[in-house]
Amino acid sequence: MTQSNPQKLIVGNWKMNGSLAGNGALIQDLLKGWPTHQVSRRVQAAVCVPSVYLAPCAGLLHHSCLDLGAQDVSAHDAGAYTGEVSAAMLRDVGARYVIVGHSERRQYHAETDQLVAQKAQKALAAGITPIVCVGESWSERQAGQTAEVVKRQLAAVIQLNGHCVCEIVVAYEPVWAIGTGQTASAEQAQEVHALLRAQLKAAVAMHERIFILYGGSMNAANAKLLLSTPGIDGGLIGGASLKAADFLSILADADAVSRV
Ligand code: 13P
Repeated sequence: MTQSNPQKLIVGNWKMNGSLAGNGALIQDLLKGWPTHQVSRRVQAAVCVPSVYLAPCAGLLHHSCLDLGAQDVSAHDAGAYTGEVSAAMLRDVGARYVIVGHSERRQYHAETDQLVAQKAQKALAAGITPIVCVGESWSERQAGQTAEVVKRQLAAVIQLNGHCVCEIVVAYEPVWAIGTGQTASAEQAQEVHALLRAQLKAAVAMHERIFILYGGSMNAANAKLLLSTPGIDGGLIGGASLKAADFLSILADADAVSRV
């Protein structure tokens, strides 16, 4: 059934940071600390890099145990959509994941639930795993609307993608916890993860296991507690993924908690 996953998935979202040289150095440091021969099968890891750096990062990550992801994808296949990048293009350069519906895109680019669902659909059709972000704002939480908001956001993706939904990853990212240093408590995250899991369970085959990640100020100091919380299958990490030591520490915590 759509139960908590025995493995962990740790994904870095670099957002709009870095440079060709800086990102290359970061990847080299990550690969040194997370070498293939030491990697546990219990932890999968990926970094979602700015689109212009996908190809060079793909070269560096080739044959490594770190997967490559993008941060957005077009809802269109091809054509006159200046500035957009299609799912086929992402696939072409070796992306395994793409983040869709990040709150920064919902907020700054007016992305609707429907558009996010279409982006997830394009990713799935191209063989890329969409990491579908859902999350409430602080005022929505204060108004007791958390469940309603996250369920509405996920419902749009389920409705458009039907049984393919078993191929997605979900990330619960409370907007108020992103980049603020204010993490959701393990209980708050667990409660929302349980809601989302129940919603997925009602929509897909009983045996499927869908990763539900937590994102929002996860860092080297709090990762172990969050990752050991039942129902939290991993993390989507912003700021702390830009420092190799911190991201490696989170990977080590994921490995440790998935052993027990
Ligand atoms: P921070 O980890 O910087 O809070 O960002 C979380 C996030 O938005 C990941 O997608």
